[in-house]
Amino acid sequence: MKGVWGLMKVLIVGKGGREHAFLRAVRKSKLVDEVFVLPGNCMMKDCKLVDIDMYDVKAVCDFALKEKIDLTIVGPCDVLALGIKDEFEKHNLKLFGPTKSATRIESSRYFAKQLMEKLKIPTTDYAVFTDRDQAIKYVSSLEKFPVMIKLDGFSKKFSVNISKSNESAIDTINLIFDENENAKVIIEEYVLGKEFSIFALVKDDKVFYLQTVKDYKRLLDGDLGPYTGGMGAVSPVFNVTDFEIDYVVEKILKPMARSMYEAGYGFEGFLYGEIVVSNEIKVLGFNARLGEPETEVLLPRLKSDFVENILDIMNGKEPSLQWSDESCVGVVLASKGYMEDELLQDKLNIVPTESEVCFMGVKKEKKLVYADGTRNLIVIAKDKNIEDAREKAYRDVEKLKTDSLIYRTDIGKF
Ligand code: GLY
Repeated sequence: MKGVWGLMKVLIVGKGGREHAFLRAVRKSKLVDEVFVLPGNCMMKDCKLVDIDMYDVKAVCDFALKEKIDLTIVGPCDVLALGIKDEFEKHNLKLFGPTKSATRIESSRYFAKQLMEKLKIPTTDYAVFTDRDQAIKYVSSLEKFPVMIKLDGFSKKFSVNISKSNESAIDTINLIFDENENAKVIIEEYVLGKEFSIFALVKDDKVFYLQTVKDYKRLLDGDLGPYTGGMGAVSPVFNVTDFEIDYVVEKILKPMARSMYEAGYGFEGFLYGEIVVSNEIKVLGFNARLGEPETEVLLPRLKSDFVENILDIMNGKEPSLQWSDESCVGVVLASKGYMEDELLQDKLNIVPTESEVCFMGVKKEKKLVYADGTRNLIVIAKDKNIEDAREKAYRDVEKLKTDSLIYRTDIGKF
């Protein structure tokens, strides 16, 4: 870093709404001059887009060296899981995010479960299988449904499935092993309860609480339909108590961070725990980054300097985090057919809005902006309470919606 305010060069790695929200927060920093987004998307303004494959971590690192980037912030977990931090460290480049070893807390659900067991952190009951026949035998014998079926590691086709019967669980297991005979499958109890996430900034054994966020994971209103990447989000989560926040930070996030640090692979980056509360607080999983679309409702509430906060924690100082008391509601618009095979890639209706919009999956052809067939954009409204923020967001959804886009109508209602 040049040591002079306003002269930093920041690189953001990723291409979705989360990185669009990073860009807005980084642009507000008094420390920053130039911002690069690699690869970014066509709706990102006030930055330079870098046409390099983000999964080629050596090429990303070469770019950062060539451009003398002062700070890199990474969005996607699969890029972190490739060891981008380890590559940057070899060249003494600053990158905020965990190493490949520390990223296992997200990239391997089994690793996280084992660590939680060791630390006696309450988590949903589970069984793990690497053999198709044994997994089928296990689900055939189950009497209590639904169950969650999860994959250890990443897959484009599969993330989380809820099976309501022995037959559907067997189908899911066959689907997973058909795609990859070496898969590791986690079959987990389904707990119905209050779900939310607690976000934190972590460096080694130090954990700084950020805020609560709720991600609306299911495709359809009323929390029905398949699990998606997230169809909307709110922050803060109005029904989370101070006791629950304290419990998660003190009894879950801090012991996890300390344990990784003591094991020699200290975590540096954003960390969040996905929590469910029924008759007790349990961890559903951990994420080694900020969430998509959680980031889009979290960062607009940050009043302090995002880049300064990150640099402080990287330098071992306590970040001076300041938050707005306002509520933020984000509603995702996705292409009809998202989560199915047929994906509509129609033209988007880009018009002025009262709310902010972050673009998630878009492409430009002949100056027109098209959906890319996945989640396309998120409308983010901030207001003094959740009802007003919700109303504002949905007024703008009305302006942006088209016949080929889908969205939930109940984000922020519960
Ligand atoms: N919205 C959940 C995630 O980012 O994985």
